[in-house]
Amino acid sequence: MDTTPILVLGATGSVGRRVAAHLRSQDVPVRAASRHSATRFDWDDESTWEPALSGISRMFLMAPDGVPVAPDFVGLAADLKVEQIVLLSSRAIDVIGDQRLLEAERVVRESGADWTVLRADWFDQNFDEGPFREAVLAGELAVPLGDCRQAFVDLEDVAAVAARVLTEPGHGDRVYEVTGPRALSFGEACAVIGAAAGRPLAYEGDPDAYRAAQIAFGRPEDEVEGEIAAFAALRGLGDTEPLDTVPRVTGRPARTLEEYAAAASGSWRTGEADGAGETGA
Ligand SMILES: NC(=O)c1ccc[n+]([C@@H]2O[C@H](COP(=O)([O-])OP(=O)(O)OC[C@H]3O[C@@H](n4cnc5c(N)ncnc54)[C@H](OP(=O)(O)O)[C@@H]3O)[C@@H](O)[C@H]2O)c1
Repeated sequence: MDTTPILVLGATGSVGRRVAAHLRSQDVPVRAASRHSATRFDWDDESTWEPALSGISRMFLMAPDGVPVAPDFVGLAADLKVEQIVLLSSRAIDVIGDQRLLEAERVVRESGADWTVLRADWFDQNFDEGPFREAVLAGELAVPLGDCRQAFVDLEDVAAVAARVLTEPGHGDRVYEVTGPRALSFGEACAVIGAAAGRPLAYEGDPDAYRAAQIAFGRPEDEVEGEIAAFAALRGLGDTEPLDTVPRVTGRPARTLEEYAAAASGSWRTGEADGAGETGA
């Protein structure tokens, strides 16, 4: 058995800590890295890069929202003979024009390593651990996507896919779109979450209402317009078609939003974030 650890970046975060947990559950050694992990890794501190990369051959690569994947870091990984890179990316980035993730994908594809890109759909966990949590607690979520259906995906499934890709052959040089089993509009998703949370969750999907609310909130107008244009492009794609990536790669059905919401329901009732699936960083 290969005892070389797999480097997992973002190991305290929603995705990385689940990837680390899935690997550990298969007795695969993990080098958990982030600013607050056992291995300190900071995108803003290049002195932390080589210690994180030295002696590893496989890596789960993610950068937090707004942070680019530094090409020099990927170049260093190649110099240090990292053979496999699995990159967390996002669905529809080409249509939205997400230059940060498009550039990350390009750098990884050209690294010389065996690469796999995981383009995940909207995370279920946005509702309890991520950017929608406050909206759930406040009772209203605004996302300017109208009734367009999205294939929300559970991070346990994204992590299970990542762990498989990192530990078995046959996934190299591929882009996997990772979706949940069913596409729901945000209105439908809010009804599911509201029922599980035991508090109503209204949905506002109109771009004009979104614009007015964000500007009243004090956000710069050009930033809000850019966001609305990206959402309009996503809406232009129409309803998302759920894919079979999760069952195909993991051999298990993808978790539904209802299953996720039932498991996370305690977090909205107590006001505490749910740590389900966490085994520590
Ligand atoms: N939300 C969605 O629906 C969705 C869908 C598809 C793709 N994505 C992508 O998923 C990514 C976010 O993943 P996530 O939800 O797991 O993020 P997250 O929960 O916010 O976790 C971010 C991780 O990055 C680490 N980190 C923060 N700043 C860092 C720095 N300067 N240097 C090194 N590590 C740093 C954090 O740990 P420390 O604080 O310990 O450093 C943490 O482990 C983004 O790239 C986003 O585009 C999101």
